Amino acid sequence: SDLAQAGKLAGKRVLIREDLNVPIKDGKVTSDARIRASMPTIKMAAEAGAKVMLMSHIGRPEEGVYDEASSLAPVAKDLSEKLGKEVRLIKDYIDGGFEVADGEVVLLENVRFNKGEGKNTEELSKKYAALCDVYVMDAFGTAHRAQASTHGAGAFADTACAGPLLAAELEALGKALHNPARPLVAIVGGSKVSTKLTVLESLSEKVDQLVVGGGIANTFIAAAGNNVGKSLYEADLIPTCNKLNEIMSARGAAIPLATDVVTGKEFSPTAAAETKNVSEVVSDDMIFDIGPDSAAELAAIIKNAGTVVWNGPVGVFEFDQFGEGTKAISMAIAESSAFSIAGGGDTLAAIDKYGIEDQVSYISTGGGAFLEFLEGKILPAVEMLEKAAAKK
Ligand code: 3PG
Repeated sequence: SDLAQAGKLAGKRVLIREDLNVPIKDGKVTSDARIRASMPTIKMAAEAGAKVMLMSHIGRPEEGVYDEASSLAPVAKDLSEKLGKEVRLIKDYIDGGFEVADGEVVLLENVRFNKGEGKNTEELSKKYAALCDVYVMDAFGTAHRAQASTHGAGAFADTACAGPLLAAELEALGKALHNPARPLVAIVGGSKVSTKLTVLESLSEKVDQLVVGGGIANTFIAAAGNNVGKSLYEADLIPTCNKLNEIMSARGAAIPLATDVVTGKEFSPTAAAETKNVSEVVSDDMIFDIGPDSAAELAAIIKNAGTVVWNGPVGVFEFDQFGEGTKAISMAIAESSAFSIAGGGDTLAAIDKYGIEDQVSYISTGGGAFLEFLEGKILPAVEMLEKAAAKK
């Protein structure tokens, strides 16, 4: 069920769980992507005349103690600016006792200050549920957490439904992974095979090309028998890489590896970059990017794709001399007619740096949740919503 089907919202107490876990510096929001993504839902509810209560976590504060550093105050300020009217931040709300006007939007203080949030206790969940007539789960970015505000509140609320942002994310991800236009190409970058192992395993059963980048690629390069010098890689995962290669080739699919790389002698913004054949890497080299030939090959794969799923850069793009590979991938995605979906903090930073935001078909607000979806896991908040819908 969705927000539009939740009945007439005018005058109703509507509790919306958003993911407003955004970076803050000096009391200011430094990246408002998640807030911007939540705005259509918030405006829809406010314009319908609901008493809108927004709830979110920010950071990972200790439960049971108020800590100003983890206050949602900067988010309330940002929301007020975006809405053009004050969004009050309510500190004490668990037992009710505050009024919200019809059409007003208030923000409830960081749910992670509340005892029982992390453990999803029945007591806290029921208190959240008692605050509202309708509970809306719209926080895709936190849908992989079974916590009181993302799970229990909905389970105990009279009416629980998915919000439009959550629904849109699930639809876009479902389109990319469950019913993709082929070839389906996944790009998985990152520092370690071990942290993305389940993602790689799950994708190896589905995709036509699995492009690996960063430290993950280094381990595959080492598995292919190359010297990776001082590059970041995981020797103990070489057998795993071999197995993934076998799974892929048995399906007629592939893990394309870089033939040329860009290396440096130190991890620093001023490190000199050297482009060389992958077989020419020496013992004091560190691989920091794919080379131009490999970038051109990947660009061709991406342009030919029906669907592209992107998580993680292929090089140390924060240093320009090691950013060409990630830039080439960005440009290829921008120029490709493939349905493209991207998620994760580093990926979003790359999209921002290379200015392709409008050319990616769907940018997910999820980090961990995006990865768990790629792993093929059922997100607990989604499961709760399905149960709530089945009860009706
Ligand atoms: C995220 O940033 O991935 C989500 O907001 C979840 O945050 P968490 O990992 O602290 O639960």
